[in-house]
Amino acid sequence: MYWKTLAIALLVKYGSSQATTPMLRFSCSQLVVDRLDPLVNPGLIPSPHIHQIVGGNSFNASMDPKTHDLPTLSTCTSCTFSEDFSNYWTAVLYFRARNGTFKRVPQIPSEALVSNGGITVYYIPSMNSSANVTAFKPGFRMLVGDAALQKPGTAHKVCHRCMPASGDNSNINCGSPDAQTLPTGLCAGGIRSVITFPTCWDGKNLDSPDHESHVAYGVGSESNDVGPTGTCPTTHPVVLPQLMYEVMWDTRPFNSKDLWPIDGSQPFFWSTGDETLPESNPLFSKGYTQHGDYVFGWKDDALQRSMDARCSGNTCTVLNNQTDAEAMTCTKAQVVKDNLDGWLPTLPGNVMEL
Ligand SMILES: *[C@@H]1O[C@H](CO)[C@@H](O)[C@H](O)[C@H]1NC(C)=O
Ligand SMILES: *[C@@H]1O[C@H](CO)[C@@H](O)[C@H](O)[C@H]1NC(C)=O
Ligand SMILES: *[C@@H]1O[C@H](CO)[C@@H](O)[C@H](O)[C@H]1NC(C)=O
Ligand SMILES: *[C@@H]1O[C@H](CO)[C@@H](O)[C@H](O)[C@H]1NC(C)=O
Ligand SMILES: *[C@@H]1O[C@H](CO)[C@@H](O)[C@H](O)[C@H]1NC(C)=O
Repeated sequence: MYWKTLAIALLVKYGSSQATTPMLRFSCSQLVVDRLDPLVNPGLIPSPHIHQIVGGNSFNASMDPKTHDLPTLSTCTSCTFSEDFSNYWTAVLYFRARNGTFKRVPQIPSEALVSNGGITVYYIPSMNSSANVTAFKPGFRMLVGDAALQKPGTAHKVCHRCMPASGDNSNINCGSPDAQTLPTGLCAGGIRSVITFPTCWDGKNLDSPDHESHVAYGVGSESNDVGPTGTCPTTHPVVLPQLMYEVMWDTRPFNSKDLWPIDGSQPFFWSTGDETLPESNPLFSKGYTQHGDYVFGWKDDALQRSMDARCSGNTCTVLNNQTDAEAMTCTKAQVVKDNLDGWLPTLPGNVMEL
């Protein structure tokens, strides 16, 4: 199957460097696809656009940081490591047919899974094997990317790759040929979206009004860096693990120019409202609005232990793990009953308020 090719490609790439670049890397199957956003729009049902969400099943619309303890309130997680009740979510990709209707693009299951789409999650410890990163604290949240972005932004660590049929997964972290824009041509292996979070923290605030300014990228870090790199600014001196999401969108069912717009322009849109941009806008449907959200929810010091032990891949002797089959049973009922599989006249929400 396709995802096996992908996994092997990655092992080949990182097999030799794992001793120096350990990366905890594991699968999280789909918890739910829902129009909720407890970080940006807490309590709002429905939120402005639809997300695909993985992780602990205490996820809900409000998740008040003062009272919502994810490890206590969750009874299962859709991720490999059974002490990880965090929630991870991103926008959802849609295909627009010539008749103007939209269909949700399926996700290729995260590598070890056999169904339920999901996200491959990475936590990468310090590049310096004599230094430990500081794991996120209970209540910690952040986001990267901007659901209203219409031009190249500072979020250069949110990117897309047009995957070849071979599932090339080299240069994992937004290196060339990845781009902030969505690919313009047919992608034989689907579209990969990678979201890389900042690795420097102010050491004080678990969140901030924009959910971004309590964290920062290392000064000098490049979009294709793997792990916490660059120098943390004095305002954000604490080195965090590098959190990264990898999501594979299965655009292959739409790989026929007969289905694409007559002018050959690409027909994929993020759920954020990309499609409301006028077609005369040169930035039409470029894909800048992809974003990733994170609510930390590891039990006790499990994440810190795994980082200190410099665990790599999805094997980590200091963590408890569950089978993929168990992870895939952890799902949640959709709260906002959007039609997830039909052809839709508009995107769910169909607004660009953010
Ligand atoms: C979310 O979960 C918390 C804890 O169980 C609960 O108090 C709250 O009412 C829930 N919020 C929503 C919108 O379901
Ligand atoms: C729109 O196009 C899609 C793809 O060709 C098709 O499956 C769908 O039935 C069409 N919907 C309408 C209302 O014509
Ligand atoms: C690595 O970390 C150790 C311990 O914190 C520190 O003494 C050393 O200078 C660091 N090395 C580099 C190259 O930054
Ligand atoms: C990092 O954590 C490990 C495991 O707890 C510990 O043995 C090591 O001394 C720590 N390194 C530093 C530089 O604190
Ligand atoms: C946990 O991971 C180890 C190492 O990969 C594996 O041998 C074991 O079967 C896994 N346990 C479960 C419950 O999947």
